[in-house]
Amino acid sequence: MMSQDVILNDGHNMPQLGLGLMRFGSEAETAAVLASAADAGYRLFDSAAIYGNEQQVGDGLRQCGLVRGDVFVTTKLWNTEHGRDKSRTALEGSLQRLGVDQVDLYLVHWPLPMDDLYVETWRALIALREERLVRSIGVSNFTAEHLGRLIAETGIVPAVNQIEMHPRFQQRALHAFHREHGIISQAWSPFGGGGTGGVPLLGEPVLAAIAAKHARTPSQVVLRWLTQSGASAIPKATSVQHLAQNMASLSFDLDKTDLAAIATLDSAEGRTGPGPLTFAVKHFA
Ligand SMILES: NC(=O)c1ccc[n+]([C@@H]2O[C@H](COP(=O)([O-])OP(=O)(O)OC[C@H]3O[C@@H](n4cnc5c(N)ncnc54)[C@H](OP(=O)(O)O)[C@@H]3O)[C@@H](O)[C@H]2O)c1
Repeated sequence: MMSQDVILNDGHNMPQLGLGLMRFGSEAETAAVLASAADAGYRLFDSAAIYGNEQQVGDGLRQCGLVRGDVFVTTKLWNTEHGRDKSRTALEGSLQRLGVDQVDLYLVHWPLPMDDLYVETWRALIALREERLVRSIGVSNFTAEHLGRLIAETGIVPAVNQIEMHPRFQQRALHAFHREHGIISQAWSPFGGGGTGGVPLLGEPVLAAIAAKHARTPSQVVLRWLTQSGASAIPKATSVQHLAQNMASLSFDLDKTDLAAIATLDSAEGRTGPGPLTFAVKHFA
């Protein structure tokens, strides 16, 4: 089974379901997971300069024997690299480490509103796209206000906003804003992992009941809830069983009763990772 594609606002396709690559292990472990993921049908791979594994990811993907044109690689510009000149150097480093001529999707990792350089950084990404060093450009952890500024000041709408999004933190207002502006919401920590690997959300009884009803797993219910709403998701998974389960989430549908039950899990306090207005870390926490 393979992920269906979504069409981005620049006309390019992106697989809807991908693999998150944060906090992977050794080079050999990363290569093994990438090979299993390729076998399981994954074609979207979500990396970032700060994950420190772009080179391993590039090498691992080449070892899988997938054709470059069939692989969709995302990477992200880290917080130390905002600004026009630094953005270019940062991308050049990522291209070199990944061993590719062009990244399929390049994201500004965090807005850092306290530095107020995100509009200038966005202009730099627009120029890098014109040079074809990146195919599509987007952002991560931006609020509607930040997105509004990018759109008003540059006229270019990000293709994707990658945000924390899961049943306990549903981001309904931002997801609606994205839909209105043709931006794809891409869920990070879809299982509420918060970047730490813990997934207490999957023990939620409401999700267990829906999973039992459909003879599925809670993880599949969460991913289908996201993809059915038009969002993309990039769960991290390392076991063959998890990789396969997550990809198979695309082959069933939730009904209105299920969606209404999941809606009750939303909480204003549901965020598990850092918030976009305050996150200013310039090293890997
Ligand atoms: N843009 C950003 O600021 C940002 C921030 C955080 C994360 N991210 C991205 O989002 C990705 C995912 O986030 P995350 O790693 O925090 O959390 P997550 O995807 O919500 O959770 C990952 C955890 O879920 C487990 N898991 C995977 N599939 C499962 C299944 N079918 N059943 C039960 N457990 C399952 C994994 O275990 P195993 O490894 O044992 O399979 C891992 O412990 C990251 O890798 C990264 O690419 C982006």
